[in-house]
Amino acid sequence: MNEVFLIILAYLIGSIPTAVWTSKYFFGIDIRDYGSGNAGATNTYRVLGAKWGTFVMVVDMLKALVAVKLVFFLPYAQQSDFYLINMQLGLGLSAVLGHIFPVWAEFRGGKGVATLFGMVLGIQPNVAICCVGVFALVLYLTRWVSLSSILASVALPVFILVIFNEPEPLYRIFAITVALLVLLTHQKNIGRILKGNENRLPILKHRDR
Ligand code: G3P
Repeated sequence: MNEVFLIILAYLIGSIPTAVWTSKYFFGIDIRDYGSGNAGATNTYRVLGAKWGTFVMVVDMLKALVAVKLVFFLPYAQQSDFYLINMQLGLGLSAVLGHIFPVWAEFRGGKGVATLFGMVLGIQPNVAICCVGVFALVLYLTRWVSLSSILASVALPVFILVIFNEPEPLYRIFAITVALLVLLTHQKNIGRILKGNENRLPILKHRDR
């Protein structure tokens, strides 16, 4: 299979709008009309409950993990390290962009955090685990999923550039780009955090449907 085909396939996989289809086919609603309006795991948790929120999170994560692993369909002879890194980053980013701008859901998708995590897990699992640590700590302290997502994403270039001192420039560029992308998709959340009216994760209280 050639590269362009796999990049498009990764985008189509990332485009699967898990939250939108779950809310539509199991509850007869569009998740984007409820809660924060985001087609992601957090809003699904908020609106439809923990079980469905977890389901959406796992599927969204798997989308990018699968996309990154498409690299194994490429001919072995082409797989130099540089080529593999290029392709994995391309496939993963394509899936993340598909998640944010899904062709199957009017290009109005989620904020890319779970898919981004799946992508990093597929490429650099140790970095992904460190980011989860940041996410969990901030969530424990604030119960703001958005702030946890933002800080975990900002921590990504810190881990890659400073802690793991990754020598590959492509990874460095990727990490910085992705942190900026997450800041962009969370603009409204940042506004609400600054005003002090951002939703907190209802750990014990949610609408179970
Ligand atoms: O991953 C999305 C999360 O960071 C924020 O979601 O629904 O609170 O805008 P939400």
